[in-house]
Amino acid sequence: MKENEIMKMLYDVQHPAKGDRNIVELGMVDKIDIDGNRVTVTLAFSKHRDPLAEYLIGSTKAALVRHIPGVEAEVKTIVKDEGKKPVGLNLGIEELVGVKHIIGVASGKGGVGKSTVAVNLAVALARLGYKVGLADADVYGPSVPKMTGTEGEVPEAYKEGDKEVIMPLEKYGVKWMSIGYFARPEQALIWRGPMACNALKQMILQVRWGELDFLLIDMPPGTGDIHISLVHDIPLTGAVIVSTPQAVALADVEKGVNMFRNESIKKPIFGLVENMAWFTPAELPENRYYIFGKDGGAKMAEKYGIPLLGQIPLVQGIRESGDAGEPVALSSRPDGEAFILLAGKLADAVKDV
Ligand SMILES: Nc1ncnc2c1ncn2[C@@H]1O[C@H](COP(=O)(O)OP(=O)(O)O)[C@@H](O)[C@H]1O
Ligand SMILES: [Mg+2]
Repeated sequence: MKENEIMKMLYDVQHPAKGDRNIVELGMVDKIDIDGNRVTVTLAFSKHRDPLAEYLIGSTKAALVRHIPGVEAEVKTIVKDEGKKPVGLNLGIEELVGVKHIIGVASGKGGVGKSTVAVNLAVALARLGYKVGLADADVYGPSVPKMTGTEGEVPEAYKEGDKEVIMPLEKYGVKWMSIGYFARPEQALIWRGPMACNALKQMILQVRWGELDFLLIDMPPGTGDIHISLVHDIPLTGAVIVSTPQAVALADVEKGVNMFRNESIKKPIFGLVENMAWFTPAELPENRYYIFGKDGGAKMAEKYGIPLLGQIPLVQGIRESGDAGEPVALSSRPDGEAFILLAGKLADAVKDV
């Protein structure tokens, strides 16, 4: 029986008053002691009395008994100062010490082009001379392998002491990591909350990123528990939000904005990227058709008090280059240049924090 195996069992113990996040995620597991058949878990509570303390102690014991036949389970409690976070899952952040800025690329919903923007932004930043990495944290639909033509490649992993270290892949001047390199797509879909959360943190925390100016994180779409947990545990510098211009996307953007502005998170939002801002047909490169409405992005940005960082047109070439694994930002076509412009603006915005 190992400490991290027990830690995983404790994912079952949810805190009903905290959006059903589990006690591990909440950083409440302070210590696990194993002595033969006897397992003692120490739960950390804050100074304020938790009305559910007794309930959590009971469920923790029950989880141990359920998972380990014949265990002698004991649960102790301690009171920790607010602000001092208990260790939680034993994943250090030492692999991130060489990384200057970690930027989450988020969207309120899927299909708006978040991965397209993340991948091209990474390539564009690299073309501007920055050292860049991208972690594809979309456990439900990893698309970085396909978009970078690295499908089927397997990153090197090795043990260093009792720690496993994963090497990112390198292509187009960017370091890439994706859950897609390790799991078949249909497998990722069945991963549930805690497992997905854990896998995804490994994709970021166990990767030897080395020295980077920017580590972009292609976040899973939406604003659920996974996100909250991710933004809590990864020291994000801030975020970029991707949206299409439609009014219906507005509500989703609001959710995304609120997530980062939440009391317990409070991360700067560097701006909004309006994707599919207009349609330009290949044979009429000067024409712009505002099929999803004009200035939707600008209005959105104004409404939430964030800068409009960039506008990316809807062009067939962006989709095709994505499918071909050769991001359009590698080219000097106008649609590629839009990403270079965006990258420059983001780099400037980040310098100001
Ligand atoms: N600006 C664009 N022009 C043309 N196709 C785009 C554009 N942005 C995204 N796409 C296409 O739309 C689809 C969804 O984009 P994707 O980046 O996977 O979205 P998300 O990550 O938000 O789910 C992909 O096929 C992609 O190639
Ligand atoms: Mg995606």
